[in-house]
Amino acid sequence: MSETPIFKRKSSVNFSPKEISNEDIELIIKASVWAPSSRNRQPWRIIAIKKDSKKFNALIECMSSGNQSMAKSSGLILIFSTNNEKEFSPKTFLDIGFSGQNAMIQATELGLETHPIGGWDEESVKKVTDIPEYSKVAFLLIIGNPGDLSDLSDKLLEKHNKVRERNPLEQNFNYDEWGKNF
Ligand SMILES: Cc1cc2nc3c(=O)[nH]c(=O)nc-3n(C[C@H](O)[C@H](O)[C@H](O)COP(=O)(O)O)c2cc1C
Repeated sequence: MSETPIFKRKSSVNFSPKEISNEDIELIIKASVWAPSSRNRQPWRIIAIKKDSKKFNALIECMSSGNQSMAKSSGLILIFSTNNEKEFSPKTFLDIGFSGQNAMIQATELGLETHPIGGWDEESVKKVTDIPEYSKVAFLLIIGNPGDLSDLSDKLLEKHNKVRERNPLEQNFNYDEWGKNF
């Protein structure tokens, strides 16, 4: 069986602050916007905050403390938010999720580490980046070159070494009907 690059992606805590080129950033964004979306509405709005941006530290401050500790060493944070449609459906978030997955796979292919996060204060994120009131922030994506493991705190090293797991397949998948192990 040949595995797709999807299997190389993982939520990493090991980032280096090395600069990520605009060329790489734009390829990641291009991959994001080529995601499928309901009626091709392309509801994602993406803001890139690079390490050298004056907004970088302010955005880090919006995160939960656990997320801050890993994100502060990264090189880039992408904010995925909804568009200007006043009433958005669950499909809006589904579409943005597809877009984010494309971003992670493309970044992984570029040799970068990624980590999506939901632990941040929405109002603070909006304030730092001028996101209008009608838009909803879906998630933040931390991206960076791989760091040096010897720079990680004990806590982050423990997270780094944690074995990644998935449910047994029959808990999430069945043919023909709702599975007895669902
Ligand atoms: C919407 C979303 C929000 C997440 N929020 C956080 C977060 O706030 N902090 C964190 O450390 N990981 C967060 N994660 C990462 C998950 O914990 C991770 O994807 C999961 O444990 C599976 O590990 P893997 O991505 O390495 O396969 C989030 C993932 C998703 C998709």
